[in-house]
Amino acid sequence: MGDLFSQIEQPEREEILALRKELEDANYRYYVLNMPTLSDREFDEKMRRLQDLEAQYPDMFDKNSPTQHVGSDLAESKAKGRKPKAGFEQVAHRYPMLSLANSYSLDEIQDWLRKLPADAEIVCELKYDGLSISLWYENGNLVKAVTRGDGQKGDNVIDNIKTIATVPWHVDGVPAHFEMRGEVLLPWESFERLNREREEQEEPLFANPRNAASGTLKLLDPKEVKRRGLTCYLYYMLGEDLPADNHFDRLQTAKQWGFPVSDAMKVCRSLDEVNAFISYWDKERKNLPVATDGIVLKVNNLQQQQSLGYTAKTPRWAIAYKFPAERQLTKLRQITYQVGRTGVVTPVANLDPIQLSGTMVQRATLHNEDFIRSLDLREGDMVWVEKGGEIIPKIVSVEHQTASSPSRDATETQEGQAFVFPTNCPECGTPLVRVEGEAAWRCPNESGCAPQQIGKIVHFVSRKAMNIDGLGEETIELFFREGMLRNIADIYDLHKEDIARLERLGDKSADNILAGITASKQVPWARVLFALGIRMVGETTAKKIARRFTSIDTLQWATKEELTTIDDVGDQIADNITAYFLDMRNLEIVNRLRQAGVTMEATETEQEVVSDALAGKSIVISGTFAHHSRDEYKDLIEAHGGKNVGSVSKKTSFILAGENMGPEKRKKAESIGVPLVTEEEFLAMLQ
Ligand code: IVH
Repeated sequence: MGDLFSQIEQPEREEILALRKELEDANYRYYVLNMPTLSDREFDEKMRRLQDLEAQYPDMFDKNSPTQHVGSDLAESKAKGRKPKAGFEQVAHRYPMLSLANSYSLDEIQDWLRKLPADAEIVCELKYDGLSISLWYENGNLVKAVTRGDGQKGDNVIDNIKTIATVPWHVDGVPAHFEMRGEVLLPWESFERLNREREEQEEPLFANPRNAASGTLKLLDPKEVKRRGLTCYLYYMLGEDLPADNHFDRLQTAKQWGFPVSDAMKVCRSLDEVNAFISYWDKERKNLPVATDGIVLKVNNLQQQQSLGYTAKTPRWAIAYKFPAERQLTKLRQITYQVGRTGVVTPVANLDPIQLSGTMVQRATLHNEDFIRSLDLREGDMVWVEKGGEIIPKIVSVEHQTASSPSRDATETQEGQAFVFPTNCPECGTPLVRVEGEAAWRCPNESGCAPQQIGKIVHFVSRKAMNIDGLGEETIELFFREGMLRNIADIYDLHKEDIARLERLGDKSADNILAGITASKQVPWARVLFALGIRMVGETTAKKIARRFTSIDTLQWATKEELTTIDDVGDQIADNITAYFLDMRNLEIVNRLRQAGVTMEATETEQEVVSDALAGKSIVISGTFAHHSRDEYKDLIEAHGGKNVGSVSKKTSFILAGENMGPEKRKKAESIGVPLVTEEEFLAMLQ
């Protein structure tokens, strides 16, 4: 009888599980990806069906079921379950994630081939230059996406991986448990767009698509991950009861199942065929949408793979051939110097133009004096310029004596002479200073050196500072040339007629700029402090300082001792602040800003929230919350003198524990005796 019952019940139980998964996915697609796949009606029908079934089978109750997200407003509660997590779940790899032996010459490839069984077939594939990922499928469902980590354990970044349209969340007719491994990449186009945006917002640029993909995969905001547009190629299947007896057929099967497997793959039976594959793709890869840095050669037959086995770090059945970085010989015509916003003088190589990896190169940074000396570079030298994984071309060496490079025998007067770093600023003539321990030479004329003056104004108006719309870098340079702007205080003396008379601006732009300037007077004190551009006082530090010193008057008279009690403020920053207020020119600028109506103190409400209730406390936030967002809690902790930290350690004072707190964190907290504080208890502390 019992058996009969469970047989009848079984399909319903499976339906409950399937519906939960489907509704969870639908939530995710709707709230996180903004890409709904079910109509509201379908969603509600399925939800009702799940509720009915759960009522029928109370033993199947699960507090994580989509029916159990609290609140009457379904949308709100569904979204709540999807707030970004505190970090990523760490997962032990079922099979270690190994790397590949690298080779840089065809000779090495030939040596490797020689050691293989005579009848071995070789699969040649592209070596994608991204991050490796392992996708875990259980009963056809994608259940985890684990990064390589240290090879033994990695981070489960499944929410971010699910933003990649080509990665299936479910596949039919597949083994019960298997992993697909591959590479996550940010296509060139997305990478370039992302860097353009970062440039506009004055955020540091990613050096190459791999760094950008890595930064993106570790974001806690899948919406932003989706917006950036990652992609993925899979090249390895692992597990039990897998199809085919060779790697190539296995990947073809994976492709049929719907996995993103590249077409750039070939079974080769001779060195010649391998060579042909390499030379074809060394050229053709430049037309691919993603970065590749070589070819991977794998023994096709899985039994042969098994008998070849592994070293501690790499399989013996595979090897990578890395494409040589593109390099070219060209003439270093001249060394010029660039002065940055902070006065750092950077030498720049001006080259005879060359074509490298599809772009024209005629300039390359020479970093600093030590770099030039270490290569013994001189104007007129023939130099090797390389463009590898890094996007920025670099000079790697000097070709001192070749037929095409008489180099040091150069007859032209300027050329061939020993290099001497300038002693004076190339922009304003001020003698340069080199701070002990630093490689850079700096122009100390902060308020009278054009690039530094312009840089300060550009920083002042930038989005995270005063956010003055319409006043971009080009316009600032134009105003500077016209003598309308010399420092940040001049901004508030700009007149409509002066702006409107300039070519390419006119009435409308003038109104727009002036409206932005007026609006900037409402920018809160912490951002004004950041906008002043005091050396090393970044956005976060400015916030912390502004919380302690709630007006410019109190800050101006702050002592070094007082300043260094602020979290993040060390001796150097404290010295920079006191030096800023000792300079009469700065005091005059501050006065003019104040007279113009720029905010120079925190408002009462900003001041009100400040207390020392959490002074000296290190607090970890984990889980999801009902009253405030995680970011709001972070701000609250800081506003009350506490410190928000990412991971639990003996130094942690307590964990602000919300719902669904990470199990790892809970375990760790219990084992080292760190107390958990609920949301309500925490809010009570701040009363
Ligand atoms: S196979 C056990 N195939 O290169 C062998 N790896 O430098 C597993 N990679 O960690 C790797 N393209 O992240 C394989 N077609 C390809 C690849 C590839 C890129 C990466 C992978 C690996 C790294 C080693």
